[in-house]
Amino acid sequence: MRKILFIHGPNLNLLGEREPEIYGHLTLQQVNEQIAKFAAKCEVEPIFFQSNHEGQIIDFMHEHRRDAVGIVINPGALTHYSYALRDTIAAVSLPAVEVHLSDIHRREAFRKISVIREVCLKQIFGLGVESYHRGLEVVLGYLGRKELQMLLKETTDIDEAYRACVKILKRDFSKYNWAGIYLVEGEELVIHNYIGAPTPHTRIPIGQGICGAAVAEQETIIVADVNADPRYLACSLETKSEIVVPIQGRRMYGEIDIDSHTPNAFHEDDRDMLEGMANDLAKFLDEMSNFKLKI
Ligand code: DQA
Repeated sequence: MRKILFIHGPNLNLLGEREPEIYGHLTLQQVNEQIAKFAAKCEVEPIFFQSNHEGQIIDFMHEHRRDAVGIVINPGALTHYSYALRDTIAAVSLPAVEVHLSDIHRREAFRKISVIREVCLKQIFGLGVESYHRGLEVVLGYLGRKELQMLLKETTDIDEAYRACVKILKRDFSKYNWAGIYLVEGEELVIHNYIGAPTPHTRIPIGQGICGAAVAEQETIIVADVNADPRYLACSLETKSEIVVPIQGRRMYGEIDIDSHTPNAFHEDDRDMLEGMANDLAKFLDEMSNFKLKI
């Protein structure tokens, strides 16, 4: 299983009793238990570490630089001044996300400054333990996109590329209960491949439903509550929210469609990652059509 480091900096060992009105009532052990449950659903082995000493955190990252594939780090107050920690994150060159339990942008001025942010993929704050879950999703999204990019370099098989994209997404994101790709065929979208419950919507006219709207409007659509959206073409009673991302290069090729059984499951991080993957696919498809024109 892929190992991901979850690192907690100074004073986080006192969670539960430390300013609970700011950091919540969960102890560090309870926080780690919640992260472990979430990580298990993503087929990730979390490796936890907490220290009040900068040097020990640095040593821990050095130690795991070859066996781990990513880092989710709450550096505590070291966030605001530790250039040594920043250098370590850059040196080990693992994808890292900076997370905070509290909203550091709405507290004392010194907390707005992070010397670590630039060497991390993202900074996530203010969501309590959910900040760590989102951090893990950002690391997994980065790794999944890299995996797809590698495959796209090695293959000329368009069907394989579409299938790999769906497989990666379904494997890494437990909240993605249904993931599939629709392709544009004339005035319709036609299902190419999917993982999840069978759908009756194998052909959707462009402009109809949320799927059809995303292609017609040429933009990503996130629907927090499908039952409140009149465009939604019901397929499963379990589906609560949806994201649809067009695959658009020189022409509109199709779209990535994801359903979740969780209401309001999709946010900016999902959009960024899925738009990145759709972009990679679109570039690949543009190249493949150049290639076909030449032969
Ligand atoms: C913190 C925010 C930091 O400013 C503070 O020094 C911490 C915890 C957070 O999780 O909100 O120790 O990183």
